[in-house]
Amino acid sequence: MVSWAITGATRGIGFEFVNNLSADPENQVFALIRSRGTAGPLEELASKRKNIHIIVTDISDPKKLAQAAAEVFEATTGSLDVLILNASSAGPDTSALAPSAFHGKEEALEKEINENVKTNVISNIFVINSFLDLVRNGKEKKIILISSQSGDVEFTRITGFPNLLGYSAAKASIMVIIAKFASELAQYGIKTLSLSPGWVNTDAAQAVTGNPEVRNFVLNLFHRLDPNVNGPAPVDEAVTNMLQVIQSLTEADSGKFLTHHGKNAFGDSGANVDWF
Ligand SMILES: NC(=O)c1ccc[n+]([C@@H]2O[C@H](COP(=O)([O-])OP(=O)(O)OC[C@H]3O[C@@H](n4cnc5c(N)ncnc54)[C@H](OP(=O)(O)O)[C@@H]3O)[C@@H](O)[C@H]2O)c1
Repeated sequence: MVSWAITGATRGIGFEFVNNLSADPENQVFALIRSRGTAGPLEELASKRKNIHIIVTDISDPKKLAQAAAEVFEATTGSLDVLILNASSAGPDTSALAPSAFHGKEEALEKEINENVKTNVISNIFVINSFLDLVRNGKEKKIILISSQSGDVEFTRITGFPNLLGYSAAKASIMVIIAKFASELAQYGIKTLSLSPGWVNTDAAQAVTGNPEVRNFVLNLFHRLDPNVNGPAPVDEAVTNMLQVIQSLTEADSGKFLTHHGKNAFGDSGANVDWF
């Protein structure tokens, strides 16, 4: 039996991880969510598959996370094989602004950066530290951050994408910290990874590209990286690809940022990265 915990499991990529993994009765899947308000499909799936355990928690609150970890401890007798940090949001409604548009809007800038850092950086460190003892006792010993190409300098340079300031800065920050966890935890056999899902057809992607005008704008920018990309990939395809990368993760790649095809995602030139 392999145990998995996934944050942000109500919708999109997180839900599909639960769906894919729980289809195998040999997997025990802990779906960590912040609220049951959007968890209808997850609850329906869990009513049919007894290997899904829904845990309501708050990734920004170490006390609530300690309770969540205690529930996993109880169910697995003290271990967790794979922790997937998937929960994320792009933060306040200023995410469409380019950096100079914040001139004279200092409060909005602080909110844009701080909210993203809280959700995408600090909360993920809280989650890792809360579940670390369990992962140390696990067989797989893997900690996976679902990241984004938005946090990559070359991706930004080549696409010329000027928005999502706080989200991009937070993803860049947490990836360095994921590499630091890899350095620290290698002595326990624990491997970490930042993993790009690619462009995936979820609510988050719809929020950016649901409007046909915005979609065309984004597609034109993405064509600078790959002239063949024509839209976001289906969620099940993205998750199947990412699970292959997670299953193949070895110590040699610990701390890296890889694409959903298992290639190095930090490009020194767009030409050698399979971005989509
Ligand atoms: N879709 C893409 O093209 C794409 C591209 C690059 C990277 N990613 C990354 O992939 C991951 C999943 O994204 P997605 O597209 O599946 O997003 P999504 O459909 O918007 O789902 C986001 C999930 O995260 C949860 N969440 C959001 N903010 C949270 C918070 N503060 N605390 C706890 N949970 C929170 C949501 O819970 P609620 O239901 O309660 O809101 C939901 O379960 C994210 O890390 C994202 O950065 C996605």
